[in-house]
Amino acid sequence: MKGIILAGGSGTRLHPITKVTSKQLLPVYNQPMIYFPLQTLLTAGIRDILIIVAPDHSGDFVNLLGSGRQFGARFAYEVQDKPEGLAQAFLIGEDFIGKDDAAMILGDNIFTHDFSASVKSFRYGAKIFVKQVPDAKRFGVVEFDDKGKVISIEEKPEIPKTNYAQTGFYLYDKYVTDYVKTLKPSKRGELEIVDLNKIYLEKGQLTAELIQGDWIDAGTFESLYKASTIVRENDLGIDLETPPTVKVEIKEVKKPLAM
Ligand code: TTP
Repeated sequence: MKGIILAGGSGTRLHPITKVTSKQLLPVYNQPMIYFPLQTLLTAGIRDILIIVAPDHSGDFVNLLGSGRQFGARFAYEVQDKPEGLAQAFLIGEDFIGKDDAAMILGDNIFTHDFSASVKSFRYGAKIFVKQVPDAKRFGVVEFDDKGKVISIEEKPEIPKTNYAQTGFYLYDKYVTDYVKTLKPSKRGELEIVDLNKIYLEKGQLTAELIQGDWIDAGTFESLYKASTIVRENDLGIDLETPPTVKVEIKEVKKPLAM
């Protein structure tokens, strides 16, 4: 399983701060935001990670994260010229993904859930991860049966059918890039992840899993503040005391690390 951290975008909701840096480099208490999705992938056992960034400040990501060796991983970088949608990640990452399955995480999403069992047992189709929220109509709302098979997904519905929101972590099989190639940009000019998921839904291959613990999309000042509080109170993130180790068990790195 390959991993992708989608860390481009324009971060307009965090202006003026994101006029001079990237949202995913902003501090969440004592760590840059991108450390959290990075740790989520590492904890899930994913070691080959593509980091997709916007052109501005792209060098800062390389300065911060480097080759990945210090995290027991291997990083690749790609630039997304314009923020043309979450699903575009699979076109940008086509060569990187190759014939593998792919896990994608949004660069501003912070989870305390451990995805390793889901990554390990993933076989085909697509899997999305949901969390119950009080204000579902702000999110992609998911309806699913007791086996986890998705029945419907609606983007920001007026009257949500459930209170399960789709989070920013996704698993896709090796056909994902082929499916994204069939998508047309939406009215807002983006390749929408919801349209990609609907392809899997129509094939009866989209499942949903409930996550435990906290999930924060740190894209607004309020949620960024809340994220900082949760990180501070729970001592989350990558272990800064004893770099270069991370708070995950690194079982094995199969391929030699290229340097
Ligand atoms: P969003 O928070 O939806 O968008 P944004 O980061 O541009 O912020 P704003 O709405 O305030 O302008 O994006 C979610 C994550 O996905 C975030 O980490 C940025 C990333 N992203 C990309 O990398 N490329 C894209 O084309 C889009 C839409 C988002």
